[in-house]
Amino acid sequence: MISNQDFQNPQINKNRSAMHVEFNEVMVELITGDISDQTDCDAVVNAANAQLKIGGGVAGAIHGKGDPELEELTRPLAPIKPGEAVITEAPNLPNKYVIHCLGPVYGRDKPEDQLLRNCYSNALQLAEENRIESIAFPALSTGAFGYPKREAAQIAFSAVKEKSAELNHVKYIRFVLYSAADYNLHLQILKEY
Ligand code: APR
Repeated sequence: MISNQDFQNPQINKNRSAMHVEFNEVMVELITGDISDQTDCDAVVNAANAQLKIGGGVAGAIHGKGDPELEELTRPLAPIKPGEAVITEAPNLPNKYVIHCLGPVYGRDKPEDQLLRNCYSNALQLAEENRIESIAFPALSTGAFGYPKREAAQIAFSAVKEKSAELNHVKYIRFVLYSAADYNLHLQILKEY
């Protein structure tokens, strides 16, 4: 079911007019915005590097606000491999947790589609284990790592839909797209799911 109506939970949606669907009673919503500014989500997902250090893009925004404390928390967990996810608290960010995922570098880390699926699935597994109710994802691997955005969105929605059947604690998943063009592309693809 796709609706343009605002999601009814006031703790989660502050009257945004955003697109949402339901996968197995888990709300999935698309918005445009900055992943480091998701004040109403329990967790945000970082498009990390293997060393879990500050980077550009998403890893710049999240570490830019969270460091130096965030890097203190990630240091003992590094390095991670493509497809893996680890969780930390979220110092200086408006969230309780950061889930750090290393996406595949397109054309290098194989099989890249499976590795990207693993990111979404592993992040949601960590969310579930930590009783997280609401989580925001960026479009993993579609920036510096070069994954074509259309294919990446198809993999993301497919992975989230499949994993949603196993989720009891996670009730709300937000995709935060950085531009109107990315939002529109994801919207078009979400309608296929
Ligand atoms: N909020 C939401 N989305 C963002 C933000 C932001 N603040 N900044 C960038 N994006 C978008 C990009 O436009 C892209 O579509 O997030 C998507 C992922 O981009 P990257 O952050 O470059 O992530 P990725 O492709 O997974 O590459 C990770 O980049 O910065 C380095 O250290 C990082 O090595 C790691 C690599």
